[in-house]
Amino acid sequence: MNLQLKPHAEVENDHIDSFRLDVLKGLKKNPKRLSSKYFYDKTGDRIFQEIMAMPEYYLTQCELDIFKNKTADLARLIMPENEPFDLIELGAGDAMKSTFLLKHLIEKGIDCTYMPIDISGNILSVLKEKLNRELPALQILDLEGEYFEMLQKAASLSTRRKVILFLGSNIGNMSLEEAESFCFSLHQNLSSGDRVLIGFDLKKNPNVILDAYNDKKGITAAFNLNLLSRINRELNANFIPEQFQHYQTYDPISGACKSYLVSLKDQYVIISNEKISFQEDELIDMEISQKFSSEKIKELREKSNFITVGEIKDSKKWFVDTVWQVK
Ligand code: AVI
Repeated sequence: MNLQLKPHAEVENDHIDSFRLDVLKGLKKNPKRLSSKYFYDKTGDRIFQEIMAMPEYYLTQCELDIFKNKTADLARLIMPENEPFDLIELGAGDAMKSTFLLKHLIEKGIDCTYMPIDISGNILSVLKEKLNRELPALQILDLEGEYFEMLQKAASLSTRRKVILFLGSNIGNMSLEEAESFCFSLHQNLSSGDRVLIGFDLKKNPNVILDAYNDKKGITAAFNLNLLSRINRELNANFIPEQFQHYQTYDPISGACKSYLVSLKDQYVIISNEKISFQEDELIDMEISQKFSSEKIKELREKSNFITVGEIKDSKKWFVDTVWQVK
């Protein structure tokens, strides 16, 4: 079953309108900003697959190590008893990692409905087809839309205990303030006994982190520059991506890994009939990929009122999947 609150064409128009508003608002700020949530059009999805396959981009392999090799431990953390529950995944994508967990639950005969939430209906139908083929016994209810709108929808449809998955250090793509209010809203949308499993990328040797986001082949650069091409395609703009350069930083003290695009000359761009000027060397702030210490994770949990259940790290101890519960 697919649950979407509005007709597809209307949803698409709403997306384009808020995309245009966000882009123009961000590029009128000082410093200029674009949101990395817009990286993921069809080309962006493909480039992100390439990033995940890069040897430097350790995050995927680390979390896969947890889901593949510590599946039973993970399952124990998310379900106290073998009672029925609903597993809701925020930004499910291709569910590459969670499929290991789902397979384990099916093999154990656990009564569980999988509810993947994603903004992309296209990704959800591909995912559903894959899961129907690989795990025919799995009950699936896919929810197309924004996280919290769909989470409320899922809550209204389910009377069972809920477990939320938010993997891949997607939480790192929020500022610390945004992450705090995200966890707080998550808590507000859940009930006593519900659990969340969040993947955090941990602080480590800063060179390892910088290499993961500053690859020699320029795949991460292409990922950033694709947003300019997307704006050209969807918002009737005329960026010349070659006139911008990717620049990556990592601050090992704060844990902020940030990407920017640098304007290589004085130039202006027309976006939906509005003129935006760039000075030579002016920056566009594109993305934060926050890295966490254990203390920061604890602080985030406490501020959002969750209690701790447990955590599992990969064998290198570079990444952690943390399980919290609503009291
Ligand atoms: C999706 N997200 C967790 C990735 C990250 O590591 O911040 C996006 C990414 N950006 C550059 N490389 C990967």
